[in-house]
Amino acid sequence: MKIYVPMDSAAKALGAEDVVAALRAAAPDARIIRTGTRGMIWLEPLIEVEVDGVRHGFGPAEPGDVAGILDGSSPKALGPVEDLDWMQRQTRLTFARVGVIDPLSLADYEGHGGLAGLRRALAMTGQQIVDEVKASGLRGRGGAGFPTGIKWQTVHDADAPQKYIVCNADEGDSGTFADRMVMEGDPFTLIEGMAIAGLGVGATRGYVYLRSEYPDAIAVMRRAVAIARAAGVLGPDVLGSGRAFDMEIRVGAGAYVCGEETSLLNSLEGKRGVVRAKPPLPALEGFLGRPTVVNNVISLATVPVIFERGAAFYADFGLGRSRGTVTLQIAGNVARGGLFETAFGISVGEVVNDLGGGTATGHPVKAVQVGGPLGSYLPVSKFGAQLGYEELDSEGGLLGHAGLVVFDDRTDMLGMARFAMEFCAVESCGKCTPCRIGAVRGVETIDRIAQGDPAAIPLLTDLCATMKDGSLCALGGFTPLPVLSALNHFPDDFARAKEAAE
Ligand code: NAI
Repeated sequence: MKIYVPMDSAAKALGAEDVVAALRAAAPDARIIRTGTRGMIWLEPLIEVEVDGVRHGFGPAEPGDVAGILDGSSPKALGPVEDLDWMQRQTRLTFARVGVIDPLSLADYEGHGGLAGLRRALAMTGQQIVDEVKASGLRGRGGAGFPTGIKWQTVHDADAPQKYIVCNADEGDSGTFADRMVMEGDPFTLIEGMAIAGLGVGATRGYVYLRSEYPDAIAVMRRAVAIARAAGVLGPDVLGSGRAFDMEIRVGAGAYVCGEETSLLNSLEGKRGVVRAKPPLPALEGFLGRPTVVNNVISLATVPVIFERGAAFYADFGLGRSRGTVTLQIAGNVARGGLFETAFGISVGEVVNDLGGGTATGHPVKAVQVGGPLGSYLPVSKFGAQLGYEELDSEGGLLGHAGLVVFDDRTDMLGMARFAMEFCAVESCGKCTPCRIGAVRGVETIDRIAQGDPAAIPLLTDLCATMKDGSLCALGGFTPLPVLSALNHFPDDFARAKEAAE
């Protein structure tokens, strides 16, 4: 009997290890295979029992459910996992193997299409590789949406004795977990993507800058790198081609701003994680002053499927200039939270109400914050907005790393605006004045609004304009988005405080 249990940290946090212990005690002869999560976090721990080659799900499982799971009588039976609505409605390209394979089995990886992209890339020149990425339409999934192929072209064209691939795995946005899920559930896809990037731009060395808050992802990635090196996927002679690429995992110390690429590079060099002024772009002067590709985990983990199935296949999905799939992370006060990969173009309302099932508390939805702590709060009237970089931008939103955090009608939006400023004040690296001082003044100004000072509202608007235009990086530059969206879309929450003071 084959039983699949996720070893993803979300499943573990929800009790997967206790269920595994109960399974081992009740069925010592069963083969228990650890996987990543399917992304249906409300069903975790989700146990899958293989019957005639079909995986049947049971969840959320507790140790007491094990007897029923083993004899098939459990009321938590969900039927074949692939037939569940959540799975059926997705287009899983980047996450195709996550939750399916044993993350640390290279044979399993290859058996599910892994390394086919790298093998194809090995027969191509660097320029052909860059052209393939350009043709796929892939844009930076960390949030900025910059065309990945153009970034690679800049590094490819730079003349330098050493170039680098740096993977930004400092996933710090609230409500986001896609990077972690792919690293824990399919680490070889990130390794393969980095190797293809290295071949494309002429970089022989790569680093994953991984946040210390992700100990499971760090352990899985380190083991995967060692396995890939032992198998010749990494090293001086990648898969016998004579082309070298090797990489290592570096652990960050937990600063949000180190997810900003220039702070990240400083931190990777052993310096304090403060922002560097751009230009020069990291593509020209990055790690140790050398041309460097800095890409997010999801951008790099998407590269293998582009090379396996072709740029045209990938570019066929999507909306407008947002090609391919978006890996939505649905979180906050929501009935069904998790990861959902689909072509760009789905609406905010469909994600929150249909997929997410509304709030977990049963209260009406008040707002959803899209794009992390620097993203806008969208009211229900904007739920028709489609998820695409330009489409959301035109609605005053920010797609960012595609996290959606849902709030119910009891949320005080003035408090959320204050939190945005406070977050910026706490996390600011201190390098530029608009962010370092502006965020502190922002908290004070919102407190004045709460105390009923009407003159504080134009002051807050002015302060936001200064932070937006004058900050060195997205932390100070984008904090005005949640603040002003709260002020503009939920004026009652600001007026009530004023009236109460009168
Ligand atoms: P950016 O727009 O300045 O740059 C985007 C990327 O394109 C950078 O890597 C930059 O070096 C590169 N680039 C720009 N012009 C280039 C050229 N001509 N050639 C080669 N490369 C070029 O945006 P930034 O500041 O890197 O990121 C801001 C975004 O980060 C925001 O939109 C926000 O959504 C996102 N974000 C993500 C977080 C996360 O946890 N994933 C956290 C906070 C913000």
